[in-house]
Amino acid sequence: MKIPGRARRGAAEQPVEARTGRSARPGKRTRRFLGLMVVVGAVAAFTRPGRSISRIIARRLDARVEGFAEPESATYAHVIAPALRRFYGGVANDAAAEIQARGRQRRPTIVDVGCGTGELVVAISRKLRDARIVGIDTSADMLLWAGRHETTDGRVRFVAADVARLPFPDESVDLIVSTLSLHHWPDPAAAFAEVARVLSPGGVALVYDLRLLALDSKEMAKAAEGAGLDPSDIVREPVRGGLLSRLFVRFRLEGAFGDGDFYD
Ligand SMILES: C[S@@+](CC[C@H](N)C(=O)[O-])C[C@H]1O[C@@H](n2cnc3c(N)ncnc32)[C@H](O)[C@@H]1O
Repeated sequence: MKIPGRARRGAAEQPVEARTGRSARPGKRTRRFLGLMVVVGAVAAFTRPGRSISRIIARRLDARVEGFAEPESATYAHVIAPALRRFYGGVANDAAAEIQARGRQRRPTIVDVGCGTGELVVAISRKLRDARIVGIDTSADMLLWAGRHETTDGRVRFVAADVARLPFPDESVDLIVSTLSLHHWPDPAAAFAEVARVLSPGGVALVYDLRLLALDSKEMAKAAEGAGLDPSDIVREPVRGGLLSRLFVRFRLEGAFGDGDFYD
């Protein structure tokens, strides 16, 4: 599938701003927004009373980010993704542990939903050398950045797609990961229905989001029911790791037959 606006192969060595003719430097408004998010996140993470008010403020601020076009994608590539490198490493470790805990009768297929600039896909591809990994995203500008990491053998690919219409056959994906994207999904019920549809028997979805912005328990139960699942099918889990991980929560959904080997 073609990614709209993606640069031709061979131009990969050029910086994205040279290919697009756009400036990659974050604007003043974007920097102010990011600064506010950091302050709100710190208050929420480290003080209990700060949490609900911080949640309201964070959701309001986040609602102002639309579409991840320019300059948001450039800011993401230059500022946010590098700051999250350690977090992506932890998620890649989790992904590798999930795959290794299962019997391997075939090459695993992994999908990163809302892959943004593609750093998590790269981190996973370094841990799981034989996996096929596809990053999907709705933003052509984010995919322009992610496309730099594609491999010519098709092992790492990036595709324009919406989580509510995943371009994969039923029960064909062994692991779905997603970071910081869930709170942008307009219809979480449709999204989880798709995630459940494409997960292979024995497969698993790990959806990480900022605690401040993620769906709360009631909202997630409603999404699960809307997806035709039982609310207990989507399990809310803490994220292990250092201080940064305290800002995140993880949702786990097992494939139709729960833990087990991948079937061919
Ligand atoms: C905050 S960024 C996170 C990017 C990356 N996962 C990370 O952790 O750095 C959210 C991403 O989700 C994508 N996104 C939002 N809604 C989406 C949807 N309905 N389907 C797929 N991707 C979506 C956005 O385009 C954006 O790239």
